[in-house]
Amino acid sequence: MNIGKIITVAKRRGFIFPSSEIYGGLAGMYDFGPLGCLMKKKIENFWREFFVKTDNIYEVETCTIMSKPVFVASGHLKDFIDPLAQCKKCKSTFRADDLIKEKTGKFVEGLNPEELTEEIRKNDIKCPKCKGELSEVRIFNLMLGTNVGPVEGNLAYLRPETAAGIFVNFKNILNATRAKLPFGVAQVGISYRNEISPRHFLIRLREFRQMEIEFFVHPEKLNECPNFDRFADIKIKIFTREEQERKGKPIEITAEQAVKQKILPNQFMAYFLAKEFLWYQKLGIPAKALRFRQMTEAETPHYSAGNFDMEIEFDFGWKEVVGNAYRTDFDLKSHMKHSREDLSITENGKKVIPHVVEPSFGIDRTIYAILLYSFFEDKKRGWDWFRFPPRIAPITVAVYPLVSKDRLPEKAWEIYEMLKKDFDAIYDETGSIGKRYARSDEAGIPFAITADYQTLKDSTVTIRDRDSTEQKRIKIDDLTRILTQLVNEEIKLF
Ligand code: GAP
Repeated sequence: MNIGKIITVAKRRGFIFPSSEIYGGLAGMYDFGPLGCLMKKKIENFWREFFVKTDNIYEVETCTIMSKPVFVASGHLKDFIDPLAQCKKCKSTFRADDLIKEKTGKFVEGLNPEELTEEIRKNDIKCPKCKGELSEVRIFNLMLGTNVGPVEGNLAYLRPETAAGIFVNFKNILNATRAKLPFGVAQVGISYRNEISPRHFLIRLREFRQMEIEFFVHPEKLNECPNFDRFADIKIKIFTREEQERKGKPIEITAEQAVKQKILPNQFMAYFLAKEFLWYQKLGIPAKALRFRQMTEAETPHYSAGNFDMEIEFDFGWKEVVGNAYRTDFDLKSHMKHSREDLSITENGKKVIPHVVEPSFGIDRTIYAILLYSFFEDKKRGWDWFRFPPRIAPITVAVYPLVSKDRLPEKAWEIYEMLKKDFDAIYDETGSIGKRYARSDEAGIPFAITADYQTLKDSTVTIRDRDSTEQKRIKIDDLTRILTQLVNEEIKLF
């Protein structure tokens, strides 16, 4: 897993660029280039297909800047905090818990600033950059504020999670859709956190992208998940609190058993965990690199009655990519209290405040994992390439003339014009065919179509498979159908 090399290729091929780079960059911010942008859209759409359209879920898109009372009610202005230690010499800032974990391996979530300072002094932890002495630990709030409008003092905040816009619109959504419990509301978009020390490429950013679902459930029907049966038998890996404490390993268990044995708090949580476990494998992450870690009591956020992070094993260790929280009625109750709006639902003549199960996916971390697990340093082929699953590969198909003469470019261009209506396609006639294959492999393009002399005679082309490098001859008339089936994994041609 050569992440340095992957970052270089990702930049060169137009996946990810450091933001504001020509002015020295801005820590914790990355831009998506043409290929990254295409891949992000495909991941989002695949997520919609797999998680949103399958259930009673409505998607919304709300503002990223929201008023201060929203975050007073959500608790973020008070509780969304991390412990900060600053180097007295070079002034660099660090998360105190990270520094302690890295030096001692100890999990110190829940310790207060004095206790963390004590750990730093006791373990003789110095500034990782200049070895300078570190300050006392203090608490830092991660909310990014901004002034809205021309008059000073009109403070608003950039949302730290897309969930905020869902909860404050709960009544509007309900009135507009007349949704019945259980139902979900999804949102895909940008969130902001003023992280103390951004790190690990796309892992800890200050501006990042999330795909979230708030699933609203009758509090007495938490084990009546409508589509649960379809995923009840899926085996998932859960690293329980007990196993973590005794330095054991994740247990393997079906979604159904995990609910029965009360390892998971309810069927809805199990439903999402099972689907996540399958979906990430469809993105090319092997099952052995996936697990759900139950948060310890100290780590569990203020709003949650049970958190199970889906973690992926990265080059630097395991890290959360999807946060799964059983938020109970915390958010709706709190917004009811602060806004004085009635956010309850009437069911069978009785008022209920729905409970919420929330899967919250990080797009940037997902893309990091895909780049990591798709990258293939191929000595035999002589070039490195990305083995993206066709469904999320930024470009699906490359079209080439075998040589740039004898009417082959015109024929290949005609095919390209046809294919680009249905697929993300490129046309390339520069360099030898071998060089063009190398370039398309590096961009992770799963299929390449070549128009050759036979094409002019019988309207057939060759289709090359990126993974096996095998080629088959097919009719131009069948191209769209076959490519669609290959992308949707409905047929195997190679
Ligand atoms: N609404 C719940 C929520 O936001 P979270 O566990 O704080 O939960 C969910 O975040 C996901 O968002 C994480 O699993 C991660 O993938 C992504 N995420 C959170 N903070 C991030 C950051 N600073 N940089 C990149 N991704 C982040």
